[in-house]
Amino acid sequence: MSENHLRLGVNIDHVATVRNARGGAYPDPLRAAKLAEEAGADGITAHLREDRRHISDADIDGLMDVLSVPLNFEMAATDEMQKIALRHKPHAVCIVPEKREERTTEGGLEVAREENKLAHFIAPLRDVGCRVSIFIAADQRQIEAAHRIGAEVIELHTGAYCDAHAEGRMEDAEHELEALRQMSTFAHSLGLEVHAGHGLTYDTVKPVAAFPEVKELNIGHFLIGESIFLGLTPAIQDMRRLMDEARA
Ligand code: PXP
Repeated sequence: MSENHLRLGVNIDHVATVRNARGGAYPDPLRAAKLAEEAGADGITAHLREDRRHISDADIDGLMDVLSVPLNFEMAATDEMQKIALRHKPHAVCIVPEKREERTTEGGLEVAREENKLAHFIAPLRDVGCRVSIFIAADQRQIEAAHRIGAEVIELHTGAYCDAHAEGRMEDAEHELEALRQMSTFAHSLGLEVHAGHGLTYDTVKPVAAFPEVKELNIGHFLIGESIFLGLTPAIQDMRRLMDEARA
């Protein structure tokens, strides 16, 4: 795979959301993960939330068993999640902020204020070989703190850019995009690997995919929604094509 290849991590959380709406066994997130793999996903992302509103513990067990591509395990910085991650040793762990009352991960992690605690929290994960990624806003202070605590990867939160775009606030979208661009370059200059994600769609993916420092995008909700109309394979293939076009 070329140096310029931009990895696509497909987040399957919302297959589980639909399954859980009826409390049964389908649609099965594991089946979606295997299909995503075949459609060209470079990795699978799943967020085990404290309230288990979508992905379950059994889903994580199953993903660890069936996947051929790396699992990016998203979790809050809690003792319970750390134990689960240490047991499974997924390829990557992405630390995200989590509030029970939020609909989705609304902001980036406050690393600067919790530096000591987070440094201790991620050390054992790194010791067992997980690549630790920190989900943060495009904010220099947070990037510097993520670097100091020993994270290898940061994932930049693209939600503010995507929201502004969706609401037609194009000047704000440009402003957010510029912050993402500058902070990708800054993080890369510190030696951090840069990922990005949240809220990305066919309309918003290309400018982010074009940043040369970004190595991976994690995309879920839009792809699962689009798969209702297109099927999961074409939805992923269309996203892949747009990413490749942006990168060319
Ligand atoms: N990256 C991170 C760290 C996330 O928490 C999420 C949402 O779970 C995503 C990417 C994917 O966001 P979306 O589902 O909006 O594409």
